[in-house]
Amino acid sequence: MGPAAELAVIGGSGLYALLDGAVEHTVETPYGAPSDPITIGRVDGRTVAFLPRHGKDHRYPPHLIPYRANLWALRSIGVRQILAPCAVGGLRPEFGPGAFVVPDQLIDRTSGRVQTYYDRGAVHVSFADPYCPVGRQTLLAAADRRGVDATDGGTVVVVEGPRFSTRAESRWFTAIGGTVVNMTGHPEAVLARELAICYSSIALVTDLDAGVEGEHGVTQEEVFRVFGENSARLRGLLLDAITTLPVDRDCPCSRALDGIELPFTLP
Ligand code: ADE
Repeated sequence: MGPAAELAVIGGSGLYALLDGAVEHTVETPYGAPSDPITIGRVDGRTVAFLPRHGKDHRYPPHLIPYRANLWALRSIGVRQILAPCAVGGLRPEFGPGAFVVPDQLIDRTSGRVQTYYDRGAVHVSFADPYCPVGRQTLLAAADRRGVDATDGGTVVVVEGPRFSTRAESRWFTAIGGTVVNMTGHPEAVLARELAICYSSIALVTDLDAGVEGEHGVTQEEVFRVFGENSARLRGLLLDAITTLPVDRDCPCSRALDGIELPFTLP
């Protein structure tokens, strides 16, 4: 028997490990190797996988992360629910460094990233609501219990990067309804949906983006420093959410592929 886990956390910048005493497993996929070996451990009776999306040593910049391999690898070991923390920039003054947002929408501004498994056949998944409603509520409830002020809902604008945005781009993202901006939220969310995996995200604001009045422009140093300052709070919140995420799935994501003829068998 190979490695097995039912749910996973995909860690972002500054969150390269989550589970104490976890065992590392190398997993291969038809799309190559995931960002790193997957570590698997137990949290309150549940088997949990952890995968750092940039790799432990942050060797993959956002536009070169092997997103397809990551999601496929997790599905192949049994994962059906994913919690995905990420660092974001705030697009509005009220979402400053240290704020948490549990987004309910995203806008894709990436370019050139492969964003599907289905290059054959007619497979068009619904993506109107990109995040699992149950995962979102679980994250919000965990934040509440831990005294972390997390905003319920918000739109993540996902940019190609690796550069940060210009002031004009940033002001435009705010004008079109963006709440926060990052570089990794897409295609991670849609690839999870294409594999009928529940996916929800918790975004930690590390900076105010360049278009917010009076801001100095974003620096990488600031992003990593603020994430580091908040990573213990985030880790506690995630471990809490893991213990309360319902095991049985009854959400639209679990039925994303119902009635669709797939060109291949999913792992
Ligand atoms: N990740 C963290 N802060 C960001 C920003 N301002 N723009 C894009 N990605 C980010």
